[in-house]
Amino acid sequence: MIHDKLKAFPKDFLWGSASAAYQVEGGWNQDGKGKSNWDVYAHFPGTTYKGTNGDVAVDHYNRWQEDVALMAEVGLKTYRFSVAWSRIFPEGKGEVNQKGLEFYNNLINELIKNKIEPAITLYHWDLPLALEEEYGGWESRQIIEDFTNYAVVLFKAFGDRVKYWISLNEQNIFTGHGYKFGLHPPGVTDDKRFFQVNHIASLANAKAIVEFRKLVPNGLIGPSFAYSPAYPLTSKPEDIIAAENAEEFINHWWMDAYVFGRYPQMVLNYLIEQGIAPIIEPGDMELLAQGKPDFMGVNYYQTTTYESNPLDGVGSAKFNTTGKKGTTPETGIPGVYKTKPNPFLQATDWDWTIDPEGLRIGLRRIASRYNLPVFISENGLGAFDTLEEGDIVNDDYRIAYISEHIKAIQEAISDGVDVIAYCTWSFTDLLSWLNGFQKRYGFVYVNRDEESEKDLRRIKKKSFYWYKKVIETNGEVK
Ligand code: BG6
Repeated sequence: MIHDKLKAFPKDFLWGSASAAYQVEGGWNQDGKGKSNWDVYAHFPGTTYKGTNGDVAVDHYNRWQEDVALMAEVGLKTYRFSVAWSRIFPEGKGEVNQKGLEFYNNLINELIKNKIEPAITLYHWDLPLALEEEYGGWESRQIIEDFTNYAVVLFKAFGDRVKYWISLNEQNIFTGHGYKFGLHPPGVTDDKRFFQVNHIASLANAKAIVEFRKLVPNGLIGPSFAYSPAYPLTSKPEDIIAAENAEEFINHWWMDAYVFGRYPQMVLNYLIEQGIAPIIEPGDMELLAQGKPDFMGVNYYQTTTYESNPLDGVGSAKFNTTGKKGTTPETGIPGVYKTKPNPFLQATDWDWTIDPEGLRIGLRRIASRYNLPVFISENGLGAFDTLEEGDIVNDDYRIAYISEHIKAIQEAISDGVDVIAYCTWSFTDLLSWLNGFQKRYGFVYVNRDEESEKDLRRIKKKSFYWYKKVIETNGEVK
């Protein structure tokens, strides 16, 4: 549709930014925190860009007051952050570390004091190492109980003040990177284990939501899904099938499980034929159906374009983690689909397609298939920034990127999609899991790089002042 007049953003629209504990906090062993899988994995040679790790990250654990003051200055309406499970339960379960709870309690109170709505992510990939060692983490059904117990502690501690909750961040990415591509801990490449782990994670997600209903009746909860809407490369019917396959395999497999409590039949059929389907026990599908979320959390960065892939076609996935443009090869599943660069779109230095209209398309697809509000929990541009003399960062490219995406959201709202929040990734610069510190996302530059922590000082970028205006005018200026 082309609208001659766009609808305004809702009055209570949540303009925000997001982060994750491992990527910002540092303080990896402070105040009784236990080790997480990432605390160890990132120290194995060759796992991350230039050996970077989150031991210090951007030291938010010790600088959170300064960071919240900056959030208040920009006028954020919400700040989405994750809790490090290993701060609350150093061993993943057992005795609660009060100091860990205290940190988040203080952060939440400070946000509220500054009229910033806290939005908590229960799990953003940093698993207590003890659980990995005891029973293989997400590979065991024991994690359903341990994750739920951990979630319940947070619901009880913060449910009186925190309305918005994200259950699992990008389940599709942490299970895929961890068990299919071998890029995240525990570094496994095994399709069968991947689908099994993923099923267990879906059950844990549903169980936590069931408990949430009892403890935080006025709160809202949903997962954050990394949604990359699928496009066909051409109008050739076989390319349309490839794109539809991708939508089923890459997207509906997760979102259907969250909302409908079922897996897409076509994908399940394929997995059974290949001998890699998850083991579904009695009661599993009922639990999934009970864990329906209140909103779909969406992390949107790019669309992906597909064409048909022969049975002897490309398989494995490789990623560009260096920022050298054009180094991402085609990937796919033989006989199902393969990826192609979209000839109509530009890409970032890390080969991520830039496609604001794709966000509108994704929002519309979610609204029409799932009929749920959408909480955009991440969107942003990872780019090289230059710190100029006089502490200036002219990140016009970031302003252009976010501005175009905000326009696309407004179009989607005008189409009839119920969008409740928009969180940019990220507020301050932070550690990218595999790409070090050179791939920057923030409105606030953090003075450190891969080689040195320097002074970690915070410097407002040009985009900081711009986003302030966007928020002040509720999206009229953009
Ligand atoms: C999302 C994650 O996948 O994208 C974030 O939830 C991540 O944790 C972000 O940092 C950007 O990805 P990257 O690889 O550029 O850091």
